[in-house]
Amino acid sequence: MISLNIEKTLGFISKENVFAYEAQVKAAQEALENGTGKGNDFLGWLHLPSSITKEHLADLKATAQTLRDNCEVVVVAGIGGSYLGARAVIEALSNSFTWLQDKKTAPVILYAGHNIGEDYLYELTEYLKDKKFGVINISKSGTTTETALAFRLLKKQCEDQRGKDMAKKVIVAITDVQKGAARVTADNEGYKSFIIPDNVGGRFSVLTPVGLLPIAIAGFDIEKLVAGAVAMEKACGKDVPFAENPAAIYAATRNELYKNGKKIEILVNYNPKLHYVSEWWKQLYGESEGKENKGIFPAAVDFSTDLHSMGQWIQEGERTIYETVISVEKTQYSLQVPSDEANLDGLNFLAGKHVDEVNKMAELGTQLAHVDGGVPNMRIVIPALNEESIGGLLYFFEIACGISGYILGVNPFNQPGVEAYKKNMFALLNKPGYEEESKAIQARL
Ligand code: PA5
Repeated sequence: MISLNIEKTLGFISKENVFAYEAQVKAAQEALENGTGKGNDFLGWLHLPSSITKEHLADLKATAQTLRDNCEVVVVAGIGGSYLGARAVIEALSNSFTWLQDKKTAPVILYAGHNIGEDYLYELTEYLKDKKFGVINISKSGTTTETALAFRLLKKQCEDQRGKDMAKKVIVAITDVQKGAARVTADNEGYKSFIIPDNVGGRFSVLTPVGLLPIAIAGFDIEKLVAGAVAMEKACGKDVPFAENPAAIYAATRNELYKNGKKIEILVNYNPKLHYVSEWWKQLYGESEGKENKGIFPAAVDFSTDLHSMGQWIQEGERTIYETVISVEKTQYSLQVPSDEANLDGLNFLAGKHVDEVNKMAELGTQLAHVDGGVPNMRIVIPALNEESIGGLLYFFEIACGISGYILGVNPFNQPGVEAYKKNMFALLNKPGYEEESKAIQARL
C-alpha cells in the first residue's frame, strides 16, 4: 500500500490550512460519487477497478497469449491517454535491458502513433522488416491523425510481410463501440477488438484494455495490477476520514501550495524505471487542470540524473515550485559496492553497502537541501516496483486528480484546448471540410 507524507511542506503552508480543505474535499468526493459535478459523463474510471470481471481479464489474457505466441514484436499505436498508461506500467516493471537480450520471454513492445516523425516511422518500419510483428491500434475517437497515420503504415507492412490471414490474427483494435475509422476498419477486417467505455476519457483509461492488453502481452500480471488499484479504490473512498485518505490529503496540499504561489509541481523519482509513470502523470494533471487560465504546471525529473542538470534550478531558481517525490522502498535485486584494495576512486567508505543505500541517502540529502532552498516536499512511498504497487499508484493519482480538479473549480475530464492545433494543422494540410479555415490561415502566413 502506498503512503503519503506532507511533513516537509509544513514550513511553507500550515497543517491547519491543509485540513481546512476537508469540506471541499468531501464535496468533491460526493460530486464524483453522485455524478453531480462538471464532466459527469466521464466518471467511468471512478469504480472501474472494482468492476473489472474475471471474464474480462480472461478475454484480455487469451488475446495477449495469441499475440505472445505469434509475435516477436508488438507495436502499440496510440497517443496521449491511448499509450502513456501502458508504457508507464510496462517500463516500470520491465528489465531495463530486456530488449537487448537474445533470449526473450515476451514480445518486445514498441510504440508508434505518438509522434509524426518521418525518421522515427522509417526506422521503425525498417526494424520491423524481418520481424514477426503484431499491432494494437488504440484510439478512442478512432480518428487521431498521429495514430491513424502510423497504423496505415503498419497495417500494410504487416499484411505484406505476414499475409492477410496472419495479420488478422495479430492486429487488435481498442476503440469506441461504434464510432470512428478504427472501429470501421476493425469490423471490416474482422480484427479482434476491445471497447473503450464511453464514460472513460483517454488519460483515465489505463485500467481498460487500453493499458491492460499491452501490459498482459509484455508478460505482467494484470490481475495483480487491478488488485492494487482495487485496494487503493478502498483506501481513497469517500467514507475514509480525511486524515487517513492519501488522495484527499494530496489534493488538499497541492491546492494549498498553489494558493501560496507554488505554480509548478515537479514529480521526482529516484528510479529510472519510473520515467514514464511521470509522463503519464504529467498528462493526467496537465490535461485535467490546465484550463480557464489556471492550474499547476506538472513537470518531472529523474534523480539523481537530473540533479546534475535541473538540480541547480530547483535549488536556487524562482521559488514557485514544489516537489512530490515517489520513493520506492525495496529494490527488486541486491547489489553491493565491492571493496577495492587500491581505493583509487576513494569509494571504500561505501564498500559493503547496497547501491540503494547510496540512492536513499541521495534522496534524503536532496530533500533536506531542497527544503532548505525553499522547495516544499511531499513524499509518496511505494513498497516496491511490482504490479500491486503500480496499480495502486495509478488509481491514487486518478482519484486525487478528480478531487483536486473539482477543488480548483475546473472540469477535470475535458480537454477543449487540444483542438486548436488540430484545426490549424488540418487547415494547413487542406483537409476536406476545412476549406474556410484553409483560406483564413493562408491569409495569416
Ligand atoms: O486523454 C485524452 O483524452 C487524450 O490524451 C487522448 O487519449 C488522445 O488525444 C488520443 O485520443 P484517441 O484515443 O481518441 O486517439
